Amino acid sequence: MAEIVISNLVQHYGNVLAVDGVSLRVNDGELVSLLGPSGCGKSTTLAALAGLERPTSGSIIVGGVPFFDSSKGIYLPPEARNCGLVFQSYALWPHMSVIDNCAFALKLRKISKADQKKRVMDALELVEMQSFGDRFPYQLSGGQQQRVALARTLTYEPTILLLDEPLSNLDAKLRERARSWLRSLQKKVGLTTVFVTHDQSEALAMSDRVAVMNGGKIIQYDTPQAIYDQPKDRFVADFIGSSVLLRTRVAAHNGDSHTLILPDGQQITLQITYPAKQDELIDVAIRAETLNLIAGTPARPTRALKGQISNASYLGSHYECDFTVGQVPLRIETTIPLESIGSGELWAELTDTRYAAFPA
Ligand SMILES: Nc1ncnc2c1ncn2[C@@H]1O[C@H](COP(=O)(O)OP(=O)(O)O)[C@@H](O)[C@H]1O
Ligand SMILES: [Mg+2]
Repeated sequence: MAEIVISNLVQHYGNVLAVDGVSLRVNDGELVSLLGPSGCGKSTTLAALAGLERPTSGSIIVGGVPFFDSSKGIYLPPEARNCGLVFQSYALWPHMSVIDNCAFALKLRKISKADQKKRVMDALELVEMQSFGDRFPYQLSGGQQQRVALARTLTYEPTILLLDEPLSNLDAKLRERARSWLRSLQKKVGLTTVFVTHDQSEALAMSDRVAVMNGGKIIQYDTPQAIYDQPKDRFVADFIGSSVLLRTRVAAHNGDSHTLILPDGQQITLQITYPAKQDELIDVAIRAETLNLIAGTPARPTRALKGQISNASYLGSHYECDFTVGQVPLRIETTIPLESIGSGELWAELTDTRYAAFPA
């Protein structure tokens, strides 16, 4: 059992507070992503787990073993933690074959030759690279090198797997395939995994749970569905799915159904997540996929926004547009051929049952 329990982890680098009181529990066999913008402390948290850095304070317990505890002066060096680490740069030895790359850590651990061979071949089979054992890294594609880097960590049966943006160097198509491949491998091996990424779709697609980080803190820790549907604050709403926040004033409310006045005077009635009071100013998070551009007038004007298309890009399967309501450019996706509906005022229906909202 390799459950990870991080408590109140703090990492200072001089004046920089890279990690600011992170607490996180990852259950045995779970894949958890640390997701957030560049510089928010994801890699530092991962390095603390691996033992590459000695944190300022806090504690880390993995499978019941204290890796680090500042209050007890405990700090296990990386080699005593047996974590499987894979980084964005594959860091394969260029002068060694795939097999030798994979066997390297086993040699250091004084594993017998016969056992080495078996473990390397088993790991290469897991990553579907068993027929590439004699090749050198330069004879492999980026995706294949990444698989070898993963196989190399699997050979020594790590307690936990720590992956830092492992797919970021792959091109877009390959990255999507690598995602589902990596996820099914992780499930099959059952390794507790912490996965660092700044790519929200990667985190949503692969994880059991996602920890959204900003400024060294975990802002929200939840399932991908909850992170997407119930963002806890405006940062999460903005970062996940790129909502546009529409400022409104509450004219009336009845339960969670709120009648809202927009800056240009339009009124809409929506279910929202925040219990706003009469006359309160709130920001409603509107996602492109919850706006449906229509060619005529809406059946329910209180569930629709009147606006103008101010910018449109043709993306083959659909158009992506700025749909300006008052002064606010909301994003909208539509398959309606824009030439056919002309310019001027258009309607977009609000299709979600409930919208995330925050006090202004
Ligand atoms: N070794 C270091 N020395 C000084 N500052 C660092 C060091 N490593 C990271 N930082 C700083 O700590 C913050 C968090 O960095 P990092 O954990 O790498 O972010 P992320 O992986 O989320 O992009 C950043 O401001 C970064 O510049
Ligand atoms: Mg990083």
